[in-house]
Amino acid sequence: MTRGRLRPRVVFAFVLALCWAIQSMAGEWMPLARDGIHDPKSRAVKILQQPQEALSRLTPDNAGNQVRWVQALDKTEIRPREKLFAKTEVRKLDRDIILDVKGGMPAVRFPHRQHTEWLDCVNCHDGVFKMQTGATKITMFNILQGEQCGICHGAVAFPLTECMRCHSIAKGDKQPVIPPDVNMQMHRSRGPAP
Ligand code: HEC
Ligand code: HEC
Ligand code: HEC
Repeated sequence: MTRGRLRPRVVFAFVLALCWAIQSMAGEWMPLARDGIHDPKSRAVKILQQPQEALSRLTPDNAGNQVRWVQALDKTEIRPREKLFAKTEVRKLDRDIILDVKGGMPAVRFPHRQHTEWLDCVNCHDGVFKMQTGATKITMFNILQGEQCGICHGAVAFPLTECMRCHSIAKGDKQPVIPPDVNMQMHRSRGPAP
């Protein structure tokens, strides 16, 4: 009988521990010696800058490696060197591509500016994407397989769980219209009506 009483408690303690672990991960980075990439016995581990020290100063994010990189660059919190060789031409483009999707999911806005701040055109053109809107068939399936946008997103750029960061355009570019007879006080997502 004790087993029967113990189990829910064990489960509860486990869930609590898990919540705590996830909570305490926010705003914290794994030390190099424990990141599973660096050799903990190497002397370099004591010399190299720890991620916590470098990254905690940048605009925070709640996903990926916890830095909102586009904002960190825009606010010049970081100033990466644009090129190694003086003769390299730096190409940038400020053009948004809107990709509408079938069904209820909001359309995708692909911003060239934010990408060409980091990447040269050849990273995408004409290999991954053709230089013509709609010419490449892009699907969520391919992306989740690590192709197309998924070559980088979920690997080196923000993860695919952040759906709305890509699907950021409401259908037909219109805000959802609330009919006049709907009482918004009664339609709040959480908590009792006042
Ligand atoms: C991170 C990937 C990426 C990078 C880097 C990139 N593009 Fe694109 N580009 C795209 C995607 C995605 C599309 C839309 C493709 C589609 O709809 O099939 C596109 C479309 C285009 C188009 C067609 C626009 C239109 O109106 O039809 C042009 C032109 C273009 N890109 C030029 C460039 C240039 C010039 C650069 C470098 C300065 C560049 N792109 C860098 C991903 C990229
Ligand atoms: C070659 C790599 C690469 C590819 C391919 C790529 N991205 Fe990105 N993307 C990045 C990087 C790097 C950033 C900046 C870092 C970050 O935000 O995590 C970024 C940022 C973004 C942002 C954030 C802009 C902001 O203002 O915060 C959006 C939206 C985005 N990408 C959408 C897409 C979509 C949609 C596709 C596919 C059509 C795509 N990306 C393909 C590398 C890529
Ligand atoms: C990195 C950007 C990005 C992220 C993050 C992302 N999507 Fe997509 N999604 C796309 C692009 C690009 C397309 C293809 C648009 C087109 O049809 O040209 C797409 C297409 C879709 C479609 C249309 C059907 C299909 O299979 O192509 C659905 C549904 C969808 N996404 C759901 C999601 C959901 C749910 C999430 C979060 C779990 C998500 N997406 C996250 C970029 C993204």
